[in-house]
Amino acid sequence: MSFMQIKDLHVHYPIRGGFFNDVVDNVLAVDGISLEFEKGKTYGLVGESGCGKSTTGKAIIGLEKITSGRIIYEGEDVTNKRRNRNSSFNRDIQMIFQDANSSLNPRKRVQDIIAEPIRNFLKLSHLEEKRKINELLAIVGMPEDAKFKYAHEFSGGQKQRIGIARAIATNPKLIIADEPVSALDLSVQAQVLNFLKDIQDELGLSYLFISHDLGVVKHMCDNISIMYKGRFVESGTREDIYQSPKHIYTKRLLSAIPMIEPITRQARKKERILVEENFHKEQHMYFDENGRVFDLHPISATHQVAMTAKEKWVI
Ligand SMILES: Nc1ncnc2c1ncn2[C@@H]1O[C@H](COP(=O)(O)OP(=O)(O)OP(=O)(O)O)[C@@H](O)[C@H]1O
Ligand SMILES: [Mg+2]
Repeated sequence: MSFMQIKDLHVHYPIRGGFFNDVVDNVLAVDGISLEFEKGKTYGLVGESGCGKSTTGKAIIGLEKITSGRIIYEGEDVTNKRRNRNSSFNRDIQMIFQDANSSLNPRKRVQDIIAEPIRNFLKLSHLEEKRKINELLAIVGMPEDAKFKYAHEFSGGQKQRIGIARAIATNPKLIIADEPVSALDLSVQAQVLNFLKDIQDELGLSYLFISHDLGVVKHMCDNISIMYKGRFVESGTREDIYQSPKHIYTKRLLSAIPMIEPITRQARKKERILVEENFHKEQHMYFDENGRVFDLHPISATHQVAMTAKEKWVI
């Protein structure tokens, strides 16, 4: 049973222009997506730069205005209550931001950065708060004296850990992790990813894991949605997406994953050329005349693909 549902979410940014600075058009950053979250699972949101991943995450926690759509949390419509400081939604849904550098206040010490959600949502005494901060630093593998320092005194990986400590401070149910490791080098990436998995089991967390890296997503996610121009082209379990991708855009993304062994690299190159040819030949099956992705249709109990109604039966 899912504890949260996102229904037909739209986030449009107005484009202004002309003599009177009127709204002349809209950027359809998120253009009708739906998601459901179950306890303890990781949901991947994948797609190229600018397809609307961060906007989706920020809209869910209330940092972006929703143009239309609904967010249902534990049976209650919270669409217009997301910024309410006392709401359980606000406590239970946390975010790790794409850019750790700018999401950590440079004027605050680490202890105050981590204490922020604690002070907002948990009414702890001074002593309890101190204890909680020490506990959180230990969970993310940082020494206790880190709390007296400022964010700029840490490396990228350490900053990301501070962001994680802040995100888990209120025992949330869902963490939206926006590219949590893409700014880190490979060895630190693995550390942080494994760490996110460990605390998931310990705390029973769910993740919305945002990334453009299909290798990382395969390692982390149970369910995956592929996003293109604000819409989902395909949604399914990890097996659905990696073993039997159906949408041409998903195939294109998968064929772009770099291969290390020379033999598989050759095969991958051939596949990539073929997919690229088909992408141009078969566009009409996957995108309407304005280039907009069709609605999703189920092709199995877990797998959904955006194709014209006619084409979905012949895959
Ligand atoms: N505040 C804003 N005003 C206008 N347009 C915006 C705003 N924020 C984002 N956009 C546009 O919305 C679209 C989606 O942006 P978003 O940041 O969600 O992409 P993304 O998938 O997270 O990309 P990346 O992988 O580069 O982080 C982009 O075209 C972007 O230019
Ligand atoms: Mg982003």
